Amino acid sequence: MKKIKEITKGKAKSMFTTENQEHLIMHFSDDTSAFDGKKKEALLGKGVVNNQFNAFIMDHLKQNGIETHLVEVIDNSDSLVYRLDMFPIECVIRNRASGSICKRLGTEDGLILENPLFEFFLKDDDLGDPLINDEHIISFGWATHEQILEMKKLTYKVNEILSKLFLDSGLILVDFKVEYGVHNGKILLADEFTPDGCRLWDSETMKKMDKDRFRQGLGDVVESYHQVADRLGMNIKT
Ligand code: ADP
Ligand code: TMP
Ligand code: ASP
Repeated sequence: MKKIKEITKGKAKSMFTTENQEHLIMHFSDDTSAFDGKKKEALLGKGVVNNQFNAFIMDHLKQNGIETHLVEVIDNSDSLVYRLDMFPIECVIRNRASGSICKRLGTEDGLILENPLFEFFLKDDDLGDPLINDEHIISFGWATHEQILEMKKLTYKVNEILSKLFLDSGLILVDFKVEYGVHNGKILLADEFTPDGCRLWDSETMKKMDKDRFRQGLGDVVESYHQVADRLGMNIKT
């Protein structure tokens, strides 16, 4: 499988066309960014662990009935995916309050929510990924009512499947972000699920094992991602 042309270079990944128009190669780089691109650093080995971490999670979700864009892993830092029409929105579920919601609502970090909380954000770094609701999405034509319902249903299901997976390995899935796109009229889970886009805390010590280590300058970022992968029984090739 050959990369032909880089079509997007994002904050953590690059997408390349291939000989097959339906497919893209998703390259995970070591680039790490937070606060909508305001804090940036290359963390050696992050791309390699995240590509394989993502494939493990996408495979697990597929086995549990969630259709994803992943076709196959190509090598340590690259995967083949279906080329989708992406929704310009991010779907977040929070099981506990942490991060932006604490600032927004003055909530204590780690507060267990009565019910998993679903939120939409607009994917726009220049605007700081603002919180939006169903009405904005419909009024601006970013997705239809049916597509909104489907994305919510899928994201709640992802939360159920992965909360259990992580808890079985002694990790609390505090919150996460996923993205979706359309392929042949069907909504597929796209982009990535890695410690870059979720919060994972050790269930005994509450130690942060995710990108908050980078955001908060706690160190050992890639090492923590490997520890999570080891706990889940992933065999990461370096
Ligand atoms: P960002 O855009 O936030 O800087 P990345 O560095 O992760 O993010 O870049 C990956 C980009 O590719 C994102 O904009 C994401 O929405 C997009 N993307 C993810 N999966 C697919 C796919 N299957 N088809 C087309 N675009 C995708
Ligand atoms: P937040 O606390 O910044 O709103 O983020 C909630 C969760 O979603 C957290 O695990 C980080 C993830 N997330 C991203 O990875 N990218 C984003 O652009 C947003 C808005 C959230
Ligand atoms: N807004 C998220 C963060 O603060 C995602 C990002 O900007 O990469 O990390």
